[in-house]
Amino acid sequence: MKDIFKLDGKIAIVTGGAGGIGEALALGLGIHGATVVVSSRNQEAIDKVAAKISKESGNEAIAISSDVTDEKSVQNLIDTVVKKYGRVDILVNAMGMNIKHPALEYEMEDWDKLFNVNVKGTMIACKAAGKVMRDQKGGAIVNLSSVRGIRGYTGGNSGYCATKGAVELITRSLALEWASYGIRVNALGPALVITPGTKHIAEDPKLAAQYAAAVPMGRIGMPEDMVGAVIYLVSNASSFVSGQTIYVDGALTAK
Ligand SMILES: NC(=O)c1ccc[n+]([C@@H]2O[C@H](COP(=O)([O-])OP(=O)(O)OC[C@H]3O[C@@H](n4cnc5c(N)ncnc54)[C@H](OP(=O)(O)O)[C@@H]3O)[C@@H](O)[C@H]2O)c1
Repeated sequence: MKDIFKLDGKIAIVTGGAGGIGEALALGLGIHGATVVVSSRNQEAIDKVAAKISKESGNEAIAISSDVTDEKSVQNLIDTVVKKYGRVDILVNAMGMNIKHPALEYEMEDWDKLFNVNVKGTMIACKAAGKVMRDQKGGAIVNLSSVRGIRGYTGGNSGYCATKGAVELITRSLALEWASYGIRVNALGPALVITPGTKHIAEDPKLAAQYAAAVPMGRIGMPEDMVGAVIYLVSNASSFVSGQTIYVDGALTAK
């Protein structure tokens, strides 16, 4: 019982591992004992994150670039990991993007870009890792949704909300389809988190206060706030939990 959160000996891949949330999750997985494979398109960025994880966790971390929208590129990532470590125990899909337009002017090219990364990218990564997990008879996947995957939002977010709603339904569908293989598939739904892409909000006291006031717990999230839920979802602590989204949102979705 006391070791239920331990990830020693586990091989974990984090796509979007150089992003604000992805980096914190990758580091958290390493600190809790996993060997971490950090991935995104930018080799230099993921090299830095892998070096930081190795230094701070004392566990091995490596960086392998991949583009989640390209099935061959993701297959190469998975094949390289399997060749090196023999298995994939954990996949965290922390990649993602948002392009905002008012709905009446939504550029459909941007709609396609969003769906390509957030939805197709999630499916491609799950599919490639899922085959390895099926063959090894187990694994845990966490997909990044958002509070915008369950609630409607204005502010040009119709496309983003649609992609995150899709991520939640992919998560539940795969949880059902792969339950008999011992693969658990869950999602994390953050509220606003301060990352390089959202730091302009933290830097604007008026805007930051507005966002914080909308959250019942009265503050904006930080990447580190996301780590505990993901460690839970990929460890034995959640061995009977699948198809769920945990909203780490200061009670926002309780409203
Ligand atoms: N920050 C928030 O407030 C917030 C709230 C709720 C949910 N989320 C979700 O949480 C996840 C992480 O958000 P974040 O704020 O940490 O994002 P971020 O800082 O913008 O990082 C996004 C990551 O995704 C990678 N990425 C983008 N396109 C990719 C592609 N085609 N192939 C592979 N990797 C790709 C990026 O790396 P490269 O550019 O190097 O590929 C980067 O590492 C996203 O799914 C986001 O929607 C964020």
